[in-house]
Amino acid sequence: MATIGIFDSGCGGLSVYRELVKVLPREQYHYFSDNAHCPYGEKSALYIQRRGRFITEFLLDRGADIIVVACNTATAAAIATLRAEYPDVPFVGMEPAVKPAALGTRSGVIGVLATAGTLKGSKYLNTRGLYEDDVTIAEHVGQGFVELVEKGILDGPEAESVVRASLQPLLETGADTIVLGCTHYPFLQGVIQRLAGPSVRVIDPAPAVARQTVHVLEQRGIPTGTGPFSVKLHSSGDPAALNYIFSLII
Ligand code: DGL
Repeated sequence: MATIGIFDSGCGGLSVYRELVKVLPREQYHYFSDNAHCPYGEKSALYIQRRGRFITEFLLDRGADIIVVACNTATAAAIATLRAEYPDVPFVGMEPAVKPAALGTRSGVIGVLATAGTLKGSKYLNTRGLYEDDVTIAEHVGQGFVELVEKGILDGPEAESVVRASLQPLLETGADTIVLGCTHYPFLQGVIQRLAGPSVRVIDPAPAVARQTVHVLEQRGIPTGTGPFSVKLHSSGDPAALNYIFSLII
């Protein structure tokens, strides 16, 4: 059985957790929500690296065999540093699903919703550079999306208004594919899809991240599947939002 540590700036990473338990149902999980320091999107890389170290130590102290950085912003800002400082620990990170979007678009225009930290990260910029000659890549920060999810507001007039303000500019470019480049955003996918319309494809990268985690565990020879399943939720701040979103996905 593997002990899988997962962290995010808040409850967004639960969108990755719910995909992980589908492919790895008989493991021990520790999920850490750093909601006392959320959002990360506008924070400095140094700040996020400091938080990443603290959380990595917290998860290793609880026996983590692998750490899933279920946060695009933390991946962009900190995963290279964490890998260098913890060379024996396998880390799995996130990045916006530009490749499947670019390969699948029919209009030749894709829209990327993410945080400012992700959009300025070298990992994303390198991937964007591979496809921007072939497709038009429109970007927009999901302004207020993280705050909505952290408050447990996943639909309704307020969610529609906040989502529309960031989504509409992408739709106006002719995007027929919307990439959810932040792990909080899949919890707003109902509103996003409704506002975008059924002809627009919305991509959540979480299933691919779950498959990559299986691959890394196999590569490292870490035994899995022997159970029993357990999950422990941890948060640096008020656990209410984390517990609420968790209650929606179990
Ligand atoms: N959910 C995280 C991400 O995927 C971070 C969002 C934030 O705290 O700004 O980027």
